[in-house]
Amino acid sequence: ENQDYPYKIGFSQLTGDDAWRQTMHREMVGELLFYPGASLDIRDANYSNEKQIQDIEQFIEEGVDLLIISPNAIEPITSVVEKAYLQGIPIILVDRKIDSDLYTSYIGGDNHAIGEVAANYLVSLLGSSGRVVQITGDLAASAAQERKAGFEKKLQEISQIEIVGEANGYWVEDRARKAIQNLLRDNPPFDAVYAHNDVMAKAIKQELSLLPAFQQVKVLGVDGLPGPEGGVAAVLDGHIDATFLYPTGGDLAIKTAIDILTGQPIKKEYILQTAAIDSTNARVLALQSEQLFGQQSKIEHQNKLISDQLLRFNAQQTILLLIGAL
Ligand code: FRU
Repeated sequence: ENQDYPYKIGFSQLTGDDAWRQTMHREMVGELLFYPGASLDIRDANYSNEKQIQDIEQFIEEGVDLLIISPNAIEPITSVVEKAYLQGIPIILVDRKIDSDLYTSYIGGDNHAIGEVAANYLVSLLGSSGRVVQITGDLAASAAQERKAGFEKKLQEISQIEIVGEANGYWVEDRARKAIQNLLRDNPPFDAVYAHNDVMAKAIKQELSLLPAFQQVKVLGVDGLPGPEGGVAAVLDGHIDATFLYPTGGDLAIKTAIDILTGQPIKKEYILQTAAIDSTNARVLALQSEQLFGQQSKIEHQNKLISDQLLRFNAQQTILLLIGAL
């Protein structure tokens, strides 16, 4: 077998249980096809800091060549990342950050910019005054802290829009539903909701649609995934009003891993751009990603044909060798 890239890459993922991270994994596996011999072992911490620390400790013990880490929370995960780095394992952080410079490279979307773009967008919807509610992701995570800080700072700079309520939805659907139900008890009325991801935004819009007085409330999310369950489709179907693209960077993470392992120069930070997605551009984005999906599955099909051919070729070689030995 071809062993041009004899590398073991470990990935400590904070959860495998959502579409955004599954998209990241697909991108990683797709990119890995270019590097025969390289392996990727993904371990899922299920949103638990303790489990993530264990996973990273175990990767260190097993002696991986490089670690990719998406840290569940800043504070609890920092020291185990530093430990791995100080033992000489190159570290790529993806999507979320830690409280230390001891890592090799960071790859992720610009969460502060996402907050700012969301604030700008809200002003374009409401004008310079109004009332908004914020449903955050887990505030122990850098992505939530930055999405909140960017939004609040920008909103204050450019408008008199008031943030009249805030609750933690911890990135997931049922906690977001509870959060908005609680806020509905104390804070109404409001004109808009800024939710830190599309999963929460969709759940909130659905809750609000059951209440006649809240059916006009605009709901904004983050992620903008393609595919039938993603944010682009949700905008098209009117299940949310707008979303802000948050690229996963999965393919870039693998490419950067290989660059590090083969001694190529790399950057300490790769920051991926965002963009607003709403009813004015969702259609075109959905069509483009459909095309891309089609091309991707052709590439996967071709790849399978090639490896079947290789298997057959190897079998023939073995038979020839056996005949030669007779
Ligand atoms: C997925 C997710 C995304 C969000 C990201 C932030 O697990 O919640 O929806 O954009 O994590 O780190």
